[in-house]
Amino acid sequence: MKITVVGAGNVGATCADIIAQKELANEVVLLDIKENLAEGKALDMWQTSPINLYDTKVTGSTNDYSKTANSDVVVITSGLPRKPGMSRDDLISINAGIVKTVTENVVKYSPNAIIIVVSNPLDVMTYVAYLTSKFNSNKVFGMAGILDTARYSAFLATELNCSPKDIKAILMGGHGDTMVPLPRYTSVGGVPVTELIEKTKLDAIIERTKKGGGEIVNLLGTSAWYAPGAAAAQMVEAIVRDQKRIFPVCAWLTGQYGLKNIYLGVPVVLGKNGIEKVIELKLNNEEMNLLQSSAKSVKEVMNVYDSMKK
Ligand code: LAC
Repeated sequence: MKITVVGAGNVGATCADIIAQKELANEVVLLDIKENLAEGKALDMWQTSPINLYDTKVTGSTNDYSKTANSDVVVITSGLPRKPGMSRDDLISINAGIVKTVTENVVKYSPNAIIIVVSNPLDVMTYVAYLTSKFNSNKVFGMAGILDTARYSAFLATELNCSPKDIKAILMGGHGDTMVPLPRYTSVGGVPVTELIEKTKLDAIIERTKKGGGEIVNLLGTSAWYAPGAAAAQMVEAIVRDQKRIFPVCAWLTGQYGLKNIYLGVPVVLGKNGIEKVIELKLNNEEMNLLQSSAKSVKEVMNVYDSMKK
């Protein structure tokens, strides 16, 4: 198994490090456009192998995609991160060009890869990779739902003073302020969360979750990396170990939830073929309305990309 992570910034490097530590592949290639950045970070990581006891070979490359040839999974993290005051959508013009070029190179050397997109604005950058790669949509999808669900679960664990391990939650929609956490599908050790937290507190946690990425941007002056990197690595794990796990993933919809021709966060089964199934929850009216309005705002940004191409 060979995995490439494109972009040796904070998210890409964190993701590659976790992939290596979990020995999800024989080989991890970290690639970046910035001279020597990927080589330096990969060498530093490889020097942890005698300490962390793994034998996944980690190498770096400055923009030489031939080194990534025949990767089974490619994680694309390239692009600029947000600065305080920016929305993810503000990144579209610069990051669309970057993701398109990266995808062309990835496809040239790894025509059978599964592509996981992490770049922002996430839903639309996944669409860019899909259009550019011309791969089947089960093999091109985006990481956002695991990250957003993790933020939601972490806030719940803090509020309830319980173990995050016991929280099961699901969250749908775009990776932006319109995302849709679903309390009706959230439980703590099997107990519905609505029985454990009063509505006003739960609503506040949901609002904090929606702005969870921005909260970190405001603290750090740049976007998060530990949780995004770990979330992308968890998707890689589900694929390479064929775990058939159920995760919210940014997936191409073909009529599910009454939506088509759009990339949006929905629960899927993730295994060796990538997205093996999109799960259709029976949403109530309120949940469905929130999902549709999230889809509408994602579609607006997709339309911006479509008009840029003309
Ligand atoms: C975040 C960025 C990675 O949500 O989108 O932190």
